[in-house]
Order: sequence, then structure tokens, then C-alpha cells
Amino acid sequence: MLGSHSRRIILPRPGGPARRWSLHAPVAPPRWVRVTALRRETEDAVTLTVAPEDGRTLPFRAGQYLTHCFTIDGAEERRAYSLSSAEGGALSCTIKLLPDGRVSRYIAQQLKVGDRYRVIGPGGDFTLDAGHSGPLVLLAGGSGITPVISLVETALAQQPTRPVRLVTVNRDRAHAIFHERLEALALRYAALEYTPVFTADTGRPDAATLAGLLRPDAQGVVYLCGPQALMDAADAGLRAAGFDPARIRRERFVPAPRHQPRPTEPQDIFFRRSERTVTQQPGETILEAGTRAGLRLDFSCTVGGCGHCKVRIVDGQVRLDEPNCLTPEERSAGYTLACSACATTPITVDA
Ligand SMILES: Cc1cc2nc3c(=O)[nH]c(=O)nc-3n(C[C@H](O)[C@H](O)[C@H](O)COP(=O)(O)OP(=O)(O)OC[C@H]3O[C@@H](n4cnc5c(N)ncnc54)[C@H](O)[C@@H]3O)c2cc1C
Ligand code: FES
Repeated sequence: MLGSHSRRIILPRPGGPARRWSLHAPVAPPRWVRVTALRRETEDAVTLTVAPEDGRTLPFRAGQYLTHCFTIDGAEERRAYSLSSAEGGALSCTIKLLPDGRVSRYIAQQLKVGDRYRVIGPGGDFTLDAGHSGPLVLLAGGSGITPVISLVETALAQQPTRPVRLVTVNRDRAHAIFHERLEALALRYAALEYTPVFTADTGRPDAATLAGLLRPDAQGVVYLCGPQALMDAADAGLRAAGFDPARIRRERFVPAPRHQPRPTEPQDIFFRRSERTVTQQPGETILEAGTRAGLRLDFSCTVGGCGHCKVRIVDGQVRLDEPNCLTPEERSAGYTLACSACATTPITVDA
């Protein structure tokens, strides 16, 4: 049973993407790292460990991610990968290999120990709340376990008797990343209740089943990370059971579902600082159009959560996917997120 705690906590942005780097704080410059280990976790997941080349530490909080910048066939590709180690540990990220995934395939099949590349970050606020030491409830589906195991291990290392309930959902045992590590953790910490669900045996859990497995204490905090459908089902089940949605934290690996259609006509984008005009093709974002044309634009998470791709629209109209991390002040000052916005007329961008 999870205990009851009455302490009031403030939780950010229910439902929306987590605010990544503070929009008002400068993002740390990229750091060169070297690959120190590559470890196969399952047939389609690999843990990549890196160390900064300059020998200085790169501190991170449990639940945060690093943006990895690779050059693949001459093009720069950036992807966010959550750290799967406990706070203070090595810089390890665990990557699920997607059959047609450009970067995950590169990491699983081509990257070698000793290779060097740059990382940005850490970023993200899918982290433990400093003011909350009460029960934790976490749901991880598939590779969503990466930030979640970091949260679990960190919380228990800091407070070994803190009640932690972890539910994981995977196809079967062979595809369950960190299953043995979590079983060992549950043996070590009596406060950890670990429930793996294997859908090959049970089918996909529905909203009510998930709510029944998670059973959060009214004062607890719930962390969700995994496929959108799983997080939506858990969210719906918890709400139906009367749980306060403000206490639910989500980490999205893919952009939130689009609420607005993307423009169907090409639009010209004038990038004022580089003095280049690029035609945004139907379906593309400003960022996709710019990077396709070889422009060096700032970005990191690509899902509207970090603010790193913020640009000011000097002229013209854009359509911005919701939810995202822009503040009302930034919107009224003309800012948009290049990774999530599309031009709906010819535009001029201050980038
Ligand atoms: C904050 C954050 C943290 C992340 N942490 C992790 C992590 O710890 N481990 C991890 O494996 N990934 C993580 N991701 C996802 C990761 O950044 C990449 O999106 C993913 O590896 C796909 O990149 P790719 O180049 O292999 O595939 P792409 O070439 O970009 O895409 C190939 C195909 O896969 C689809 N696709 C993209 N991402 C996913 C996904 N996550 N699941 C299913 N289909 C997808 C695309 O729509 C496309 O059809 C995280 C993403 C974010 C935003
Ligand atoms: S908000 Fe992160 S890259 Fe756009």
C-alpha cells in the first residue's frame, strides 16, 4: 500500500509537453563526447554510454534527456534520448531500434566505442519534484522505461523507504528493457512494487485496468512515458477514477497528435539572417524546410517541448501545433517554434 501524504505541491502544465530548458536561460553549448560503451539490452534496444571529451562532468537530473547530434551521410541529425542511469551515474541513454529509423539504426548498427560526436543538454523537466517526497507511481511502455528507470533508481537511492509503484507494459519478457534490472531492484528495495505487464499474455490493458494497476494515492504523483495510446488510456482511467490530472506528468517521445492540419500549398520562407529563401513543401514545418535546404537552425527535441527552435516571425502567418512550450508573452511578441509551426502565407523569419 502506498502511504498517504498531505503536503501540497505545485505541478507544472498538466497534459502539455514538459517545459524543457527554461526559455529565459541560455542553452548550454554543445559538448563533445566519446562513446565509451554500447550494450545490447534486448534484440531491438541498445544502451549507449558516453563521456565528455574535456573530462568535466555533465550533471543531469533523473528523467532528463540529452540531444545527440550525429553526422550521418553528411547531414546533421539530432535526436533526444532520455538518460537511463540514476542521477550522478554515467551518461547512458537507451535507444529502441526502429526498423526505418535513421538515427536509431545508425546507433545500433554503425556507432562504435571510441566514436566522438556532440550532445546538447541535458534538458527536460520530467524530473522528481524537489518539494515532494511522497509516493511515486510510474507507468512505462516499451522504451518509455528509459527516463522512468532513472527516476525510480534515483528516488530509491535518495530515500530507500519511499513507496514507489512501477507498472511496465511490453509485448513479452524478451522485449522488456531492464526487466532483470528492475526485478533485482525490487528485491533490494521493499518499497518498490514492480508489476510488469506482457501484452502477448494479457492483451493491451484498457483505461480501467491501467487505473487499477496504478492505484495512485490522492497525494501521489504519477509519471507516464510510453506510446501515446498507452499514456492516453492511463490518463483517461486515472481521471475516471477521480485522480487529479494536475498530478499526472507525461514525457512524450513523439510530437503530440496534431490538432490543426498542415498547409497543403507550398509557401516561401525568407530566413533573414542567412538571407535565403526556402520553399516550405506541403506537410513540412519551418524547421524541416530550413534544414532540408541546409540552413543551420537551432533545435533540439523537435516535439515542441524545449523552446530551443524558437524564432520570431517578422512578417506573414504561421500555424503552430498545440500543445507547446511557448508562453503567452512570447506568442504576443511574435515568436513561434520552428519545429512545430508551418507557414500558411509567405513569411519572413528572424533566423
Ligand atoms: C524528450 C524525448 C526523449 C526521448 N527519449 C528516447 C529514449 O530514451 N529512447 C528512445 O528510443 N527514443 C527516445 N526518443 C525518441 C527519439 O528522439 C527518436 O525520435 C527515435 O529514436 C526515432 O528516431 P529515428 O531517427 O530512429 O527515426 P526517424 O527516422 O526519425 O523516424 C522513423 C519512423 O519512426 C517513427 N517514429 C519516430 N519516433 C518514434 C517512436 N519513439 N516510436 C515509434 N515510432 C517512432 C517516425 O514517425 C518515422 O515513421 C525521445 C524523444 C524525445 C522528444
Ligand atoms: S521546441 Fe524543441 S526543438 Fe522545437
